[in-house]
Amino acid sequence: MKKRKNIITVAIDSPAAAGAGTQAKLISKKYNLFYLDTGKIYRYIGKLKLTNKNFSYELVKKKVSHIDIKTLRNKSLLTNEVAISASKISKDKKIRDIVHKFQQNCAYNPPLKYRGSVLDGRDIITVQVKDAMFKFYITARLEVRAKRRFYEYQKLKKRIPYKEVLKSLRNRDKSDKKRKYGPLKKTKDSILINTTKLSKKACFQKIKAIMDKKLNINGNL
Ligand code: C5P
Repeated sequence: MKKRKNIITVAIDSPAAAGAGTQAKLISKKYNLFYLDTGKIYRYIGKLKLTNKNFSYELVKKKVSHIDIKTLRNKSLLTNEVAISASKISKDKKIRDIVHKFQQNCAYNPPLKYRGSVLDGRDIITVQVKDAMFKFYITARLEVRAKRRFYEYQKLKKRIPYKEVLKSLRNRDKSDKKRKYGPLKKTKDSILINTTKLSKKACFQKIKAIMDKKLNINGNL
């Protein structure tokens, strides 16, 4: 694949509800980077699996080839059922292979109006954008993540008990970390950001300080 030269690439891996999406959005705004939440693609396919009797690799291929960012913003992708389904289908190597090209194209050939890209997910540093300029592993304690997700569901008027959210996140963590293809793990060269006790702002300041330092040295700021 051809890669656009001299772009800023930011790769983020994290377990669910650790705050990676929030930080990725802040990064994309601050540095004018194209943002892709890769989990949304798996959620989109997870929903396809739940709603389509004729679910097949062919269907996934066809749908993914027509996917646009607007589709990925659909609120129906935010439910717990869809998240669980996404975690199941994402174990499948054939499905992962289908979405890789799309993701890597977003990372390495972002629309020209952007200075680069920021992607978050589970295998961004380990598989998708191994040579990213910035690599962050964002995490937080399970109970803290479950609480955050529980409040997000409340805001969306989705009634789901805290205990169920906790259980679902625990299961997804396990499945995402133990699976054979693209498991979630922290690489040695990625910077650990633990958001358990950090506010969104404090977390972003940490990331911004790291990025500004390197971009300044490279003459990118
Ligand atoms: O990030 P989010 O919670 O929306 O992701 C939903 C599911 O999609 C995850 O639990 C994971 O199984 C899968 N996923 C993945 N690889 C990524 C992003 C998400 O397997 N890069």
